[in-house]
Amino acid sequence: MFYLLSGLLYSALVGFVSSGVIDCSRAPDMFAIKNCCKLPELNLTSFNKKCSKYVARITPCSFECVFNNTQSLNGTSLVLPKVEQLLQIALNGDQKVIDIYMNGFRECSMQEAEMLRSLKRRRMEVVDNCSPMAVTYAICAHRYVNINCPEGSWTNSQQCNEAKDYSINCNMPKGRKAT
Ligand SMILES: *[C@@H]1O[C@H](CO)[C@@H](O)[C@H](O)[C@H]1NC(C)=O
Ligand SMILES: *[C@@H]1O[C@H](CO)[C@@H](O)[C@H](O)[C@H]1NC(C)=O
Ligand SMILES: *[C@@H]1O[C@H](CO)[C@@H](O)[C@H](O)[C@H]1NC(C)=O
Repeated sequence: MFYLLSGLLYSALVGFVSSGVIDCSRAPDMFAIKNCCKLPELNLTSFNKKCSKYVARITPCSFECVFNNTQSLNGTSLVLPKVEQLLQIALNGDQKVIDIYMNGFRECSMQEAEMLRSLKRRRMEVVDNCSPMAVTYAICAHRYVNINCPEGSWTNSQQCNEAKDYSINCNMPKGRKAT
């Protein structure tokens, strides 16, 4: 139940900003990309107990709780060795998949300043005293995994390829209200 919820993520992916050849004003059905990359999603079930306060309703707090519990977040920065430990749990030790997600989190950790700017610009509210950074990193990494999906795991359909092109070429709204 307490997954890196696709619904949450894909609602957060809609509403990209215009840039370049692809018509970014015409978002493809982002729910369509949901199953395009057949890699395991982060399974956060093992945090249900520790984060029971935040399980019923998935909010930025849910993610912050998981990241806090694994000490993966220091202020607004990712602590990558801890993120790797979190991924060991959330991906059940599947090292190949962990490596792909780690590449994503590594890349996303370098976008911290940009994320902060974007969240500020969007006047992203702090919800229940939780910052949106954890969920923003999660969305960012998930997007990376979709864009960099291994060929064997990618569904080579027109719909998936279009959604991917869109994802690559149109900036995502980093830190949309994730509720
Ligand atoms: C998620 O993790 C929990 C506990 O670690 C496990 O019981 C469950 O089977 C996992 N779910 C999936 C779909 O792998
Ligand atoms: C996570 O840790 C920060 C810093 O200690 C704290 O302010 C915040 O309330 C914690 N969030 C959750 C959901 O426990
Ligand atoms: C957290 O960040 C502060 C300030 O950037 C730094 O001094 C500290 O060593 C960091 N702690 C961890 C656990 O990375």
